[in-house]
Order: sequence, then C-alpha cells, then structure tokens
Amino acid sequence: MKKMMAYSPYILFLSLFPLFTASFSIDYKSYSSELLSLANKDKDWLVSVRRQIHENPELCFEEYNTSALIRRELDRIGISYSFPFAKTGVVAQIGSGSGPIVALRADMDALPLQELVEWEHKSKIDGKMHGCGHDAHVTMLLGAAKLLHQRRDNLKGSVRLLFQPAEEGGAGAFHMLKEGALGDAEAIFAMHIDPQSPTGTISSHPGPTLAAVCFFQAKIEGQGGHAAEPHCNIDPIVTASFAILALQQLISREADPLHSQVVSVTYIRGGSALNVIPPSVEFGGTLRSLTTEGLDQLRRRVKEVIEGQANVHRCKAFVDMKDDAYPSYPAVVNDESLHRHVQKVGGFLLGPSNVKPGKKVMAGEDFAFYQQVIPGVMLSIGIRNEEVGSVHSPHSPHFFLDEDVLPIGAALHTALSEIYLNEHHSSVDGMDLTT
Ligand code: NI
Repeated sequence: MKKMMAYSPYILFLSLFPLFTASFSIDYKSYSSELLSLANKDKDWLVSVRRQIHENPELCFEEYNTSALIRRELDRIGISYSFPFAKTGVVAQIGSGSGPIVALRADMDALPLQELVEWEHKSKIDGKMHGCGHDAHVTMLLGAAKLLHQRRDNLKGSVRLLFQPAEEGGAGAFHMLKEGALGDAEAIFAMHIDPQSPTGTISSHPGPTLAAVCFFQAKIEGQGGHAAEPHCNIDPIVTASFAILALQQLISREADPLHSQVVSVTYIRGGSALNVIPPSVEFGGTLRSLTTEGLDQLRRRVKEVIEGQANVHRCKAFVDMKDDAYPSYPAVVNDESLHRHVQKVGGFLLGPSNVKPGKKVMAGEDFAFYQQVIPGVMLSIGIRNEEVGSVHSPHSPHFFLDEDVLPIGAALHTALSEIYLNEHHSSVDGMDLTT
C-alpha cells in the first residue's frame, strides 16, 4: 500500500490544476488519505468476497450465485437495489435520489476456461474460471458501495451501481440498457484490471479506445466427387481459399490505413479424405474496427466478397454474422472530459505519476453500449505484481490477481463518483469532504 500513500508528487500535481483547486475548497490530500484508509480497513472483507466469487465462477447469463452474493452484501450494508435486470443483473442506488446521477459498472461473468493456477482458492468448477478479473470488478464495486453508503450524507446527488451479466460475448450491457438499468444517470465509469501496469497505477485513453467487434461464419457449397475428376465437381476448397485471400484485401486495399481494422479468419473446416472433393467448406472468424461505422462497412464487404468469390467459382455462399449468439459490440469511445476527470481524480488519489496514458486495443467491451446513450469512460487499473505472480494476461488459464488492487479500485470508484457529483450538482456551494 506504500504506493497509494506516497504524496510527494502530489503537490506538484495540484499546481497543474490551479483552476480546479481554486474553484473548490476541498483539501484533496486529506480527502484521498481518508478515503484510502477507509478502503484499506475493508481489505479483509474485500479479499474474502473476491475469493468466494473466484471459487464459484459462472458464465454469461448464469451468474445466479454471484448475483445472490452481491444482493446479500448490499443487504448487509443496508443499500436498496432493484433485481433482476437482464436475468441476473443488480442495480443499486445510493444518495438522495435526486440528480445529478452518476453510474458505476462492474461485469460479473467468468470464462469457459480451466484454471491452471494451483492455490487455495482455485475455481471449484471444472472448465470455468474468472480469468478476466470480473470477480475483482464486482468486489471493487461492492467496496465502493460500502464506502459511498458510509459517506452518503456528503453526496451531492446519487450514484447508481450496475452489476451486469454477460460481458464476454453476450452483450449483457445491451440487455441491461433495454431494461432501463441506467435510469437517469448522466455519466458512467467502469474499470478493467490490467496486468501490464503495476498495482497502484491506472491508465485511461480519450476517444476510441477499444474496438467494435463482430463474428462471422461462412459456408461455401460446391459439388463433391472424385478428386481425380475435378472437371466433374465444383470445388469448394479452392473457392474458400480464394475467398479467404480476397478478405485480406479489405484491410490492405479498402480501409484507410489510419483507421485501425482487423479481419481474422480463425478456422476452416472441410473434407475428410485424400481423394474426395468435399461438397462444402466452412470457415469463420472475427472483424474489428476502432469505429462502429468502420465495422458496419467491414460487415457489408465481408459478405459481398465471400458471395462474389463463390459466384465466380460456381459455388453458393451462406454468410452468417452470428448476431443472435454474439451480438456485435460498438467501439468503446471514451468521453474526453470524463477522461480528464479520471486523470485528475486518479492523480489526487494515487499520485500523478501513477496515472499513465492509456492504450488503444482491438479487444471489445460491451461497456460501449452504455456510451452510445451517455458519456462514459472505461479505464484500466493496474494489477501487475511479480512478487505474487500477477503477470499473466486476461483469458490465460494462468491468470492470477494481485488482491492489493481491491481497496484501490473501491476507493477510485468512490472518488470518481463523489467528485463528479461535487462538480456537477447545481448548487454553488462545494461539498466539504474533509469534515
Ligand atoms: Ni474482461
């Protein structure tokens, strides 16, 4: 926790924001130190909550026990909530009920992955694992719930806490939205653990940050027969090969080189004998773009190219964008002004040198659905700690979490929302957070 309590660069940081400090008579040094110390007092509770969730991972839309645990903890703290949203989702609200309302979001689902880390609190369910840190996301938001509840008398508005299912491909956020989970929230924050950055640091990137994503499958139908008589058959293998090669040109020849896009064909399946031309071939993969419009264009062209190639080679093509099983995700576009808020609040809480520039990544996040409705920021919170083995990337069976992040994330969620409300409530008087 040393990193959290280091304030030497803090004074320098304050001097970078004279306008902010002049407008609000808040002693942020005391504010941060009080908040971090409160969060650290909860560390044993946070670790035990996280371990319970880690031991009992649940996949997309099946987070019944996780959801029950969240509701049990909210009951214990004394926070009211609504349930269910999108099957297992929970929405709690803290504060007066009046505006402004700011939302914080955590995802609850695990991965279909066998945990290969041998430790006391390893997943108890074969083939399922919290390998993306969503157990930590839930815990940090519960930690924030407790802190916000303790400090509710000073809140200048309301904080809405969204515990959502099915981030890993099920578009849980889309379904939460459809069922009104955002309410009247005007801004939203979420964080994702990041094993590339040390524990005690955060990073955030303004504008397009994570890709719009979809998946596709194609079936090429020809006419099978003896491999010795290709002229009597219609060869789907050669056709699929042309189609897959033609898809590569969508990025190299059609996409603006300054607009990041990806087309990856990830499997191809067809044929079973050395002397038989099969009747059909299937292949599929994923499309990515840092803009939602770019993904729409790619989707249209992938279909046209595969069908066109099939046509040239006398085959039929059936292209399925898998929208039912894997709804396409929009791009995560972080709001510029909320991004500055994250930098500022992170600087106060963790020290300015622990707030790093974020990176653009071609992975997807259904947090983007909320950002289509209200401004939001998805930030990264560091968990890298070689001493405890917290170095593996998310979705690795060796993924291991530095639990020191839990109080940091709880305090950060709390500060992001408290300071946002303080700056956006309509009254002219500032909140005295030091009392
Ligand atoms: Ni994740």
